[in-house]
Amino acid sequence: MLTQQDLEAKGLSATLLTHPLVVHKLTLMRDKTLSSAAFRMLLREISWLLCFEVTKDLPLEMRAVETPVAPMEGPVLKGKKLAFISILRAGNGLLDGMLDVIPSARVGHVGLFRDPKTLQAVEYYYKVPSNMHDRLIIVVDPMLATANSAIAAVERLKQGGAKNMRFVCLISSPEGIKAFNEAHPDVNVVTAAVDTHLNEHGYIVPGLGDAGDRIFGTK
Ligand code: PRP
Ligand code: URA
Repeated sequence: MLTQQDLEAKGLSATLLTHPLVVHKLTLMRDKTLSSAAFRMLLREISWLLCFEVTKDLPLEMRAVETPVAPMEGPVLKGKKLAFISILRAGNGLLDGMLDVIPSARVGHVGLFRDPKTLQAVEYYYKVPSNMHDRLIIVVDPMLATANSAIAAVERLKQGGAKNMRFVCLISSPEGIKAFNEAHPDVNVVTAAVDTHLNEHGYIVPGLGDAGDRIFGTK
């Protein structure tokens, strides 16, 4: 696994979470004998921490509030509600935890699957909230492998008006970060791990296998 220093040395731009709870839970998730129920729960828990990281610089404004003891001014989030965009279907495994943390967020879905022969992303669904240009858009998908899916999703969202985006994933590959940085230098990547490489089938090594299959028990 790569460190933040490794990324910088390779000229790759991504924010890597190193919190002990994140790395511990991720190691549990990689175990191929783990049940789908346990896999989903761990993914949900990690997504809480990813959500805190990706929203740590949200703008605030002051609001008057009266406590039972005294009036005061306290900070609240400023601006239009942010939107989470889940890349179907594995993105929904991250989305659930994100919504635990920010239940009032808007939600959109981009349906993409990776053609197993060409590894190109094929779109089958697109539905997003209104006023995309005014919102912070947080795109979620557990895996950034070749990055074809993430690049296509972000491109589609830009066509739909999105201007301010971040991409959150669980595991990424150096190849995927490089390709994503080149395609969308304006979109920061937040990830819980950068593994060593992709295999000949475009799977992340060591990775955790097919995230969608592991979340939904479809293999
Ligand atoms: C997985 C994953 C990403 C994509 C990553 O989805 O959830 O969307 O592969 O690979 P890439 O970076 O090489 O594009 P998949 O196509 O397996 O669809 P699924 O979520 O429906 O299982
Ligand atoms: N998609 C996955 O779910 N896992 C990988 O390793 C690569 C793409």
